[in-house]
Amino acid sequence: MASVQEKLITSVTEDKTSTPLNKITVVGVGQVGMACAVSILLKELADELALVDILEDKLKGEMMDLQHGSLFLKTPKIVADKDYAVTANSRIVVITGGVRQQEGESRLNLVQRNVNVFKFIVPQVVKHSPNCTIIVVSNPVDIMSYVTWKLSGFPQHRIIGSGTNLDSARFRYLMSEKLGLHASSCHGYVLGEHGDSSVPVWSGVNVAGVGLQCLDPAIGTEKDTEGWKDVHKKVVDSAYEVIKLKGYTNWAIGFSVAELAESIVKNLSRVHPVSTMVKGMYGINNEVFLSLPCVLSGKGLVSVINQKLQDTEVCQLQKSADTLWNIQKDLKEL
Ligand SMILES: NC(=O)c1ccc[n+]([C@@H]2O[C@H](COP(=O)([O-])OP(=O)(O)OC[C@H]3O[C@@H](n4cnc5c(N)ncnc54)[C@H](O)[C@@H]3O)[C@@H](O)[C@H]2O)c1
Repeated sequence: MASVQEKLITSVTEDKTSTPLNKITVVGVGQVGMACAVSILLKELADELALVDILEDKLKGEMMDLQHGSLFLKTPKIVADKDYAVTANSRIVVITGGVRQQEGESRLNLVQRNVNVFKFIVPQVVKHSPNCTIIVVSNPVDIMSYVTWKLSGFPQHRIIGSGTNLDSARFRYLMSEKLGLHASSCHGYVLGEHGDSSVPVWSGVNVAGVGLQCLDPAIGTEKDTEGWKDVHKKVVDSAYEVIKLKGYTNWAIGFSVAELAESIVKNLSRVHPVSTMVKGMYGINNEVFLSLPCVLSGKGLVSVINQKLQDTEVCQLQKSADTLWNIQKDLKEL
């Protein structure tokens, strides 16, 4: 007796298999992981979304809740499991698993706890999706990107730390508030470490090609009377402030990760400030990951834009690199 499905549908092909073309996995379904997942779904980037976590009930609940929204989405397959087999053939894997900062805790303080978590996650990701590009989000993101690079054995262009993409977005939002313009018209890069030692590139801050330092050379310095330096201070403080107010940050990082994924899935060659291995650049001699303006395309992080930085900015980058290396060099068993 034929089933309802068989009576309803006449197949015109023998091939019943369907390999996803743009499968995206999110590891960790906490606040950040779910913000990334929802942003990726709403941007219609994936033909399959896979979720992984160690908390089975939470994982199943999140999967079911998203599946129930299928009518409103254009991602036909949403799957989840604690077994990484569910992630097989991913094009992009976003890693958000691990612990987050407590109120007042620095990102760098999380390092050893998250290294231990990554020793479990990364080999599983590599086993099931040997050709994927990994976007690292867990903090401290620059060090975790280095750890992922070492643990995965992947070439550096397939490891991207979300880095200062978020810090730069915060900077451009605050700049937009000051100028009364939309953030997309306010240009500026925050580079270096995602966190306390990040570097605002004041020499490049501009609107429509008009450099703000040409209008007031004091911008970003102690001598500036309009408080532009505070814009960067607010960027550095903003995660601490949001964590104090709501316990975690998630929406802005979710949106920003979806932008990175979009550049890869759509092969856009778009420039983003993200974390990459910078040894040999700007006089940095150690294998550290820091954010520079990078080109993201279908192959991953394919090149770095050689921004002309002022001497003080280069010094700040080198200081960020030293801070990270001092922590990294003591990491064991990588
Ligand atoms: N890079 C950035 O700009 C940025 C911004 C915000 C947060 N973060 C970082 O993102 C990470 C996640 O933050 P959150 O607020 O979502 O935390 P969260 O505690 O809400 O979620 C973390 C999730 O990871 C899961 N997890 C733990 N160990 C795991 C393992 N071995 N395998 C799979 N999943 C595992 C937990 O069960 C939990 O669901 C933190 O490290 C946080 O600091 C980064």
